[in-house]
Amino acid sequence: MTAANLIGVDHAAGDDIGVAIIRNRAGDIVARLYQGDAYAIRPRLGFMDCDVMDPPYLLKTSGGGRYRKARKVIDEIEANGIEKGFDLSIINPLLSGAVVCFCHNDQLHELLPALAGQFHRYALLDWTKKTPQPVANKHYRPDREFFAHAWNKGFHPQGELADKGRSITAGPDRALKKRFGHPTIKPPAVMAKIMRNVAGERICDPFMGTGSTGVAAIEEGKQFFGIEREPRWFEAAVTRITEAVKGLRNE
Ligand SMILES: C[S@@+](CC[C@H](N)C(=O)[O-])C[C@H]1O[C@@H](n2cnc3c(N)ncnc32)[C@H](O)[C@@H]1O
Repeated sequence: MTAANLIGVDHAAGDDIGVAIIRNRAGDIVARLYQGDAYAIRPRLGFMDCDVMDPPYLLKTSGGGRYRKARKVIDEIEANGIEKGFDLSIINPLLSGAVVCFCHNDQLHELLPALAGQFHRYALLDWTKKTPQPVANKHYRPDREFFAHAWNKGFHPQGELADKGRSITAGPDRALKKRFGHPTIKPPAVMAKIMRNVAGERICDPFMGTGSTGVAAIEEGKQFFGIEREPRWFEAAVTRITEAVKGLRNE
């Protein structure tokens, strides 16, 4: 029987931190989910094989011209306060062998030098959207999102040749969006590809939202650590990851 045991504190993370522990049928802990601030909690969790993160993007939410009405998702992102960017200090090679980080076009000029300066190698990959927003006012269509994979020695990309493409095409998962309502849920196919490519067992997502990284990590047989500030998304992640553990073939 799989169970998510909501317990009050995790002494390793700090006595004030709420945590959900998710175990598999054998009773092994496969996921630890923390509700609170990533910048405070992440350093306390220790070394991870890979941090996989989809942090708040830095977005210009005004404008849009005659396409403005089609930018509903931008309004939702703004309402959730996840358009203001993030602090690069969350990426720390002393705490992770590798990092996968999604980012907006306008964050690349800061993200890539930070990765190049701290890791052995990096590659820029993209998720090409099957149904991009019909927006192109004085710019290009937002038909792809970038993610960088940076690694130190011993944590290089994994997988068969077929898994090692730098681009993946996927559509949004409308059922997940309808069920949980988060504006930026990443497609399961994209997260599954990332999990096939990252080395090691201990995976952390400090901005886990509804737990897309966690679901993919569990399905790939890895251990997951997730942090989310907002109670609503934290609860969604607990639900999704518990369901993923229950759905494992050997469960
Ligand atoms: C882009 S969303 C991640 C969505 C996720 N990839 C998914 O598929 O559901 C970023 C998330 O980071 C959370 N967040 C923003 N700042 C945070 C912080 N300082 N600590 C923890 N979570 C934070 C937001 O509430 C939001 O849910």
